[in-house]
Amino acid sequence: MEAHEKGFFTEENSVEVVTGRNRNAKNERLKQIMEVVTRKLHEAVKEIEPTQEEWMDAILFLTRTGQMCNEWRQEFILLSDTLGVSMLVDAINNRKPSGASESTVLGPFHVKDAPELEMGANICLDQKGEDMVISGRILDTDGKPIEGAVLDVWQANDEGFYDVQQLGIQPAFNLRGVFRTVGDGRFWFRAVKPKYYPIPNDGPVGQMLEHLGRHPYRPAHLHYIIKAEGFETLITHIFDPDDPYIYSDAVFGVKESLLAEFKHTHDPARAMDYGFKTDFWDVEHDFVLARVAERSS
Ligand code: BEZ
Ligand code: FE
Repeated sequence: MEAHEKGFFTEENSVEVVTGRNRNAKNERLKQIMEVVTRKLHEAVKEIEPTQEEWMDAILFLTRTGQMCNEWRQEFILLSDTLGVSMLVDAINNRKPSGASESTVLGPFHVKDAPELEMGANICLDQKGEDMVISGRILDTDGKPIEGAVLDVWQANDEGFYDVQQLGIQPAFNLRGVFRTVGDGRFWFRAVKPKYYPIPNDGPVGQMLEHLGRHPYRPAHLHYIIKAEGFETLITHIFDPDDPYIYSDAVFGVKESLLAEFKHTHDPARAMDYGFKTDFWDVEHDFVLARVAERSS
């Protein structure tokens, strides 16, 4: 009888021995996942040949990552984001039919129960920043407007902070709002131009980025969750293409189709209509939702 048949572990048969030990797993999906993870992990260890110290460093890094997590902070999601895994899982689970708007990461700063506002409302509650008007249509893949679509929007302020990061400094629900379309599928609201910001980088993931010579910044963006009956929910952003970090998003969330045009606008009559003092940013971007049955495999 060969050593691996008796179940003894060797460098050569490590994958078969561990996978064989899992053969009675009750859940077939779990068994399949562990087979792949074991194979890839052992392959990585065999290629890297870590020293005992290096392996302990890796274990301590993951330990610190777990210790950093609490009710508000999910360091493992940041790790997944910065390794590109969040965007990969997002891409696999959101393959869209042609013409439908693309998705991107949700991020940690979404807040449930943001107020539903009248179309045109100003979501900036502290008058800080450069005025901006955002408009567009919610369409189906045939180009028809969707009535009753609900847009949940949130963004950082002109200094790169979300309201929840500055409790007591920004008003609650600053730069957040929920809007509902009518028959023409149109939406519009007022806000301020967002700024780039660092992902939370005072923990092990921030240290990892520093060791890798990477910055922690996300280019300026607005977040959207768009829901409508009979359509796939769309979790996405629009980005400012002129942002200095547009080609190096720390979490790989930028897609070409999500670049919007941020037009600097001098139009005193329109500014007056919107209640803006002077020049403003004009952003127009449509979203196309996929019908539930339209999802491409
Ligand atoms: C965000 O855009 O809010 C975000 C996404 C991933 C990690 C951190 C922040
Ligand atoms: Fe964000």
